[in-house]
Amino acid sequence: MQWHAEAIWEAVVPLLPAFSVEVLPEIDSTNTELMRRARAGQLAPVLLVAERQTAGRGRLGRTWSSGGDGASVHGAPPSLTFSLGLPLAPADWSGLSLAVGLSVVESLHPALQLKWPNDVWLQDRKLAGILIETASVGEQRYAVIGVGINIEVPQAQDLRTPPAGLREVLPEIDAAGALARVAAPLVRAIRQFEADGFGPLRQAFHARDLLYGREVACSDGVVGMARGVDAGGALLVHTENGLRKITSSEVSVRPAAGA
Ligand code: BTN
Repeated sequence: MQWHAEAIWEAVVPLLPAFSVEVLPEIDSTNTELMRRARAGQLAPVLLVAERQTAGRGRLGRTWSSGGDGASVHGAPPSLTFSLGLPLAPADWSGLSLAVGLSVVESLHPALQLKWPNDVWLQDRKLAGILIETASVGEQRYAVIGVGINIEVPQAQDLRTPPAGLREVLPEIDAAGALARVAAPLVRAIRQFEADGFGPLRQAFHARDLLYGREVACSDGVVGMARGVDAGGALLVHTENGLRKITSSEVSVRPAAGA
C-alpha cells in the first residue's frame, strides 16, 4: 500500500519542525502507542498510521473496530486509523475536539456532518470517530489526536449506531487517499486552534452541525432542542427549564427517538 508519506511530511514539516510519519502494518492502538511513548518522554510530533489495529479504542471507554476483522479488502485496509501526536499549549483547550472534527469533515466531503462533540456522520449514520487524549510530561502537555474513518461500510452488526463508509460519497477513495486529504489540513487547524481557540470556528461548526434544531437526549438525562454551540464549544440545549450547556465529553448525545 502506497501511503504518500513523503508528500505528507513535506506539507507538514514547515508547520511542525522535527515532524515524522510512521506507518505500521499492525499495532494494538495508535493512540495507546503514542500515549506510551509520551509517558516514556518521546514528545516529538509524529503521525502514526496503522494498517490494522487489534485493540482500537473509542470515546467513553468503548472499543473501535476497524470494520470486519480489520483485515484488508482487496489489499487495502477497510478503514483509515491514525493518531497525530504533538506538544500543544493553547490558552484554552475547550473546543479542541470540535476543531479537529471540523477539519476532518472539511477535508473530506461537503455531505459530511458533525454530531457534537466530534463524531463524523453521513446521512444519519456514523462514518468516523475521534479520540483525543493528553499526557502531561514535566511542564509540557502532549496531545494525541486519534482518528478512525470507515472507508468501506463495516459489516459489524453490533454497532450502537448504523455505520457509513467514505466510498459512498467518494467511490474511488482508499485509506491512503483519505489520509493524504486529511493530514496536513488537520495540523494547520490544530496550530490555528492553538493560537486563536475555538471561537472563530463557531459558524463553520454550525454549518456542519447534525444536531442543530433537533430534539436530543443526553446520557446525563438532559432532553431538549439542540441550539448549536457556544464560543467554547459547549453544546447548547433548550430544555423545559431553560438553556443548558453541555460541556462534558463524558456525556453522549443522540437525536431523540422519532426526531
Ligand atoms: C469514537 O468514535 O469513539 C472515537 C474513535 C477513535 C478511533 C481512532 S482509530 C485511531 C485511534 N486509535 C485508537 O485506538 N482510537 C483512535
